[in-house]
Formats: sequence, structure tokens, C-alpha cells
Amino acid sequence: MVRVRITGTGSYLPEKILSNADLEKMVETSDEWITTRTGIRERRVAAAEENTSDLAVNAARKALEMAGAAPEEIGYIVVGTITGDFPWPATACLVQDKLGAKNAFAVDVSAACSGFIYALDSAVKQVQSGAVKKALVIGAEILTRIVDWTDRNTCVLFGDAAGAVVVEASDDESGILSTHLHSDGSYWELLHQPGFGSRHPVSEEALRQKVHCLKMQGNEVFKVAVRSMSDVAEEALAANGLSAGDLKLFIPHQANIRILDAVAKRLKLKQDQVFINVNKYGNTSGATIPVALDEAVQAGRIDKGDLVLLDAFGGGFTWGSILMRW
Ligand code: UT7
Repeated sequence: MVRVRITGTGSYLPEKILSNADLEKMVETSDEWITTRTGIRERRVAAAEENTSDLAVNAARKALEMAGAAPEEIGYIVVGTITGDFPWPATACLVQDKLGAKNAFAVDVSAACSGFIYALDSAVKQVQSGAVKKALVIGAEILTRIVDWTDRNTCVLFGDAAGAVVVEASDDESGILSTHLHSDGSYWELLHQPGFGSRHPVSEEALRQKVHCLKMQGNEVFKVAVRSMSDVAEEALAANGLSAGDLKLFIPHQANIRILDAVAKRLKLKQDQVFINVNKYGNTSGATIPVALDEAVQAGRIDKGDLVLLDAFGGGFTWGSILMRW
């Protein structure tokens, strides 16, 4: 089987910072509550003229540069997003146009916070099959445009960001070792955006009920997230005959520091094995993992040959892990 590896990473964070102190002026909350319950201190907010495809393109350009790949060399562009520029066409098509990646076919993956993991899995398989030589995988979100800014239960949690990777066939031992993906649609209602699909099309009444805003039953999501992320990490380790101690870095979806601490404890990971940046950006859904991976690479926390485990959980519910040798 052809081994596929990541040859470039990139990320983009909008400039504007929204701090917990800023939120204290908007809803009844406190820096103390947000920090102790979530670990989040600040998040980024896209500028009015920025769209999800712009964030995606900025991250993609950096990943392409690191990979030494021209846009025309890319055969497949896949964007994990739930906050694309439009319901359709796919944000990936807009990215293809903006990059001038005229030889790529392009599509979005809707798997909420697991979007990047699902997208990366599909790119790996496209390269493995020989259908494409190089693929561009992006996680990009502008969640601040679908949160209800009067709902303190959700508005303090989310932010905007994009991260990208380039994948291609590996010529050595490095590369993706396994992918494990799961879904359980019976949980769809715990985390979803009711409008404006076929169930709740646009109407004045629908707008009054804010069906365009994200809805979440946080504490229910929390419990399943901890269990599922731990189980799918263990599934990846067992499938490869490894133990948690073999990992150089565990890069989980960044939703809440208490989820990360609980998963790390279950897996018996040491503090320096877990990458955390939820304090700086909050939950950016499909963007958290590629942003974290890029930051880890830039910070020199991953060396050639290191084992890295990505682990995501999100609406659907969807969850999954990807193990790789860097
Ligand atoms: O991205 C993938 C999926 N998403 C997640 O993984 C998120 C999972 N869930 C969570 O991270 C946590 O459940 C939250 C951070 C959303 C909430 O934390 P919690 O410890 O589960 O709190 P809770 O929802 O049980 O609420 C506890 C209290 C409530 O007050 P009462 O009813 O006990 O009086 C809330 O109204 O905290 C209150 N509360 C707040 N207080 C101040 C909720 N949000 C806030 C807030 N500021 N922003």
C-alpha cells in the first residue's frame, strides 16, 4: 500500500481578538467562569470583509509553500467546514478558484468539529488509490457568524480560524499509519444548526427564533466527547500495536480544556505529550486540529520519525483519529 504523508502545514488566524473581558460587557458572564469551565481566554473574530474561503486560502498558501507545491500540482481540494461562504457551492470550489488550482476537483466535508479528520482521511485515500498525486486538505470556519451573541451558554466558546495541509505519497517510513472514523446520528440534536436547510427554510418567524444559530446541550456533549475521543485514540494505538507512551504528540480537537484533561488522564498521557491552544483561540470546529498541527510543527515540537495522533469529536455526532509517523 502507498504510504501518504503530510509535506506542508499552514494556518491563518484573523487579527481581531475577543477577550473574556470583552464578553463580560456583552453577556452575563465572567472571565473566571469561562477560564475555569473551558480554559478559553480569548478567541479570534474574522473581519467583516473576510469569508471562510479567504481564511482557507491564507492557510493553504502557507501549506503549499512549505510543501514546495504549485497550486496547479494539486489534484484534490477538500475543505472540512460547517460555516462555508454559501450553503453551496462548496467553499473548496471557491478556494480552487482563488488559488488557481485548475487541475483539482474540489468538495466540502460536513462533519462539524471532525471535518478536518474526515477530509484528511478522504485525501489520503485519493492519493493511496493513485487517483491524485497531491491533495490540499483544509479546516476553515467562521463560527462567530452563527453563534447567538445573547446566549452565554455558547457564545463564549467559539472562534474563527483556518488550517491546511498538503498530502502526497511518501518515499520513506513517514506517513499516515491508520485512520478510524465513526458517527452516531442518534445524537444529532445535541449539537446542530437548525436553519436554513429543508426543515427550517428562511422565514421571518424562523429568524425570530434564531434557527440560523448554533444550538448545543453542552454538558451532554461533554460526556460523550470524553468517552468517544478516549476510545478512538485507544482504537488507533491498539490497531498499530502501540501504547500512549509511544506518542510524541497527541493533538486533540480543542473544545474545552476539561475535555482534553479528562481524555489525557484516561490515556495516561504526560502533560508535554498533549498539544493545547484552546486558551488562545477557543473552539474553531474543523480548524482546531490543522491549526494546532501547524503550530506544533512551527514550534519544533515534532521531529522526523515522531508518532503523532490526531483526535476529533463533533456534531453528528462524528469522531475519529488519525495516527501518523512524521
Ligand atoms: O466541539 C465539539 C463539541 N463541543 C464540545 O465538546 C463542548 C462540550 N461542552 C462543554 O465544553 C461544557 O459543557 C460547557 C463549557 C459548554 C458548559 O460547561 P458545564 O460545566 O457543562 O456547565 P453547564 O452547562 O452545566 O452550566 C452550569 C452553569 C449553569 O447555571 P445554573 O443552571 O447551574 O445556574 C449555566 O447557566 O453555568 C451557567 N453558565 C454560565 N455562567 C457564566 C453557562 N454558561 C455560562 C457563562 N458564564 N458563559
